[in-house]
Amino acid sequence: MPFSFTFNTKTTVRRVLENPYDHYHLATLHKLPTPTTSIQVTLLDELPPDSQSEPRTKNEARYGALVETKIERYLYFGPINALAKVLGLNTETFMTRIDTWPSGHFFTIYINGKEKVSMMQGITPVGENNTTEYVVLMIKKTGSFWQDLVSYAVFGLQNKAVGAQDIPVFNTLNDDKGGAYVKHDRPALKFREFYQSWVDKVEI
Ligand SMILES: [Fe+2]
Repeated sequence: MPFSFTFNTKTTVRRVLENPYDHYHLATLHKLPTPTTSIQVTLLDELPPDSQSEPRTKNEARYGALVETKIERYLYFGPINALAKVLGLNTETFMTRIDTWPSGHFFTIYINGKEKVSMMQGITPVGENNTTEYVVLMIKKTGSFWQDLVSYAVFGLQNKAVGAQDIPVFNTLNDDKGGAYVKHDRPALKFREFYQSWVDKVEI
């Protein structure tokens, strides 16, 4: 089941793309009900070779990570939370696989070990510190009309609401100002190396 939305941001492509690699903000900004210390990030290149580390595309312009955590309470917001409770959509584990290329991400979201949502996010620069992000989600069908309807609301609206929370932060970010060098920033800093290596290849 498809669901799509767009956002305009007042920052660069790189800043928007870095967002999922700043994994602590899932708890601090997006209020994922989990202690920040239980969020684990593993770079796909550092996983032992198996199906989970296989790239989605056979392409060297690829970066990726698994973000995994346990959930302490219901995952959803406000009225969506109430719907989720009624349908027993409680969440114990949450995992996102992020496959990134220099202008977008492909996310695969697993709830309790089961794939629920695939999401593609493309970022287009439209000016200096001015970008548009396009998001398309595919939500897994359950086989039941009513459960599909609720899944559509829960996963579609929730992801749009989560995306909207990032926008005011993006709009106040100055590009390339400051740096953080603690181990929790390693996925984001490694992403910057990957991104810059592809920017450096561009000839104008
Ligand atoms: Fe975010």
